[in-house]
Amino acid sequence: MKILVTGGTGYIGSHTTIELLNQGHEVIIVDNFYNSHPEVLLRIEELSGKVPKFYKEDVINRQALEKIFSENEIDAVIHFAGYKAVGESVEKPIEYYYNNLTSTLTLCEVMKKFNVKNLIFSSSATVYGLNNISPLKENLPLSTTNPYGTTKLMIEQILTDLYKSDNTWSIALLRYFNPIGAHESGRIGENPNGIPNNLMPYITQVAVGKREVLSVYGNDYETIDGTGVRDYIHVVDLAKGHIKALERHIEINKIEAYNLGGGKGYSVLQLVEAFEKVNGVKIPYKIVGRREGDVAVCYSDAEKALKELNWKAEKTIDDMCKDSWNWQKNNPKGYEK
Ligand SMILES: NC(=O)c1ccc[n+]([C@@H]2O[C@H](COP(=O)([O-])OP(=O)(O)OC[C@H]3O[C@@H](n4cnc5c(N)ncnc54)[C@H](O)[C@@H]3O)[C@@H](O)[C@H]2O)c1
Repeated sequence: MKILVTGGTGYIGSHTTIELLNQGHEVIIVDNFYNSHPEVLLRIEELSGKVPKFYKEDVINRQALEKIFSENEIDAVIHFAGYKAVGESVEKPIEYYYNNLTSTLTLCEVMKKFNVKNLIFSSSATVYGLNNISPLKENLPLSTTNPYGTTKLMIEQILTDLYKSDNTWSIALLRYFNPIGAHESGRIGENPNGIPNNLMPYITQVAVGKREVLSVYGNDYETIDGTGVRDYIHVVDLAKGHIKALERHIEINKIEAYNLGGGKGYSVLQLVEAFEKVNGVKIPYKIVGRREGDVAVCYSDAEKALKELNWKAEKTIDDMCKDSWNWQKNNPKGYEK
C-alpha cells in the first residue's frame, strides 16, 4: 500500500516508517521539522535500504496537501503530526488547539476530496482523564486535564462525527500509553527539545551527563513504592501496532479506539532500577512535589488490540531500558552533529 505518514520524521513516525518500509509498503512523509531533524531521513534510508518520498510542508497548508495527494495515489494515512508536550500546552493553549485541530481538519478535508478514507490517528491514554481506575478499557468515560489532552479528545470526537456522517470511512483511534525505547540499532530514537516532559528521556539525559539529577514527582501516591505507575511500551512494538491497525482497517469500514500499551504498570523507581541494572549506570534522583494533573496509576487493558488487531507488546522493560540508553549514549546530542 501507499501510506502517507504525517509527522513521519518524529519519534514514533520514524519508527513506524521503518516498519512500513520493511513490510514492503510505500511511504510518503510530510513533516515541517517543527520537532524533528532532516538527519532522520538519512537514518531511515540507512536502516531500511529504502528512500521514502518526503515533503517538507505544514499539514495545515491545504494547497501543499492537495499537491501531495494529487502526485501520489495514497491508500491510507497515518496521522502523527501534532504538538505533544503537556506542560507546554498549558502555557500555549492557542498554538496547541490551532496546530493539532487545524492540521487534522485540513487533512480530513483533503482526504475526502481525494476519496482516501482510511485513517489511523495518534491519540493518547491521556483521554482517560483522572477518574478512571486502571486497567483502562476503551469504553470508559473520557475527560482531560490539559489543552494537549483536550486536542486529542476533540479530534476523537471530530473523527467520530465524520464517520457518523459517512460510514465509508475507516478510522482507528490508537490510544498510546507511554512510548519509550528506540530502534535496536541505536540510530533513531526520541530527541526532545529542552527539559524532557517524559521520564525515560529524563533518565537517559541524566545518564549521559546532560542533566545532574532526575526529579521524581511525588513519592506519596498509593502505589508499590509511592511513585507514579505507568504503562511503558517499546516504540518498535507501538510502530508494529500501527501496521496491524492498518491491515485490519483496510478491510472494514468502522471507527474503533484501541489501547496500545503493555497492559502492565511500572513505578518510576522500578523503571530507574531496571535502567540501572540493565545498563550498569547509576541514576541520581531527588523527590520533588507532585505534578498537577498526574494520576497515581495508569495502565491499559490491552485485550481489545489483541483480539481485534492480533497485536500485543512483545518487548520487555529491560529491552526498553537497553535500547533507550543505546540510542542516547551513541547520540548524546540527538541528531545534531
Ligand atoms: N510520545 C508520546 O509519549 C506520545 C503519547 C501519546 C500520543 N502521542 C502522539 O503521537 C504523535 C507522535 O508523537 P511523537 O512522540 O512521535 O512526537 P514528535 O514531536 O516526535 O513527532 C511529531 C512530528 O510532527 C511534526 N509536526 C508537528 N506539527 C506539524 C504540522 N502542522 N505539519 C507538519 N508536521 C508537523 C513534528 O515536526 C514532528 O516531526 C503525536 O500526535 C503525539 O501527540 C505521543
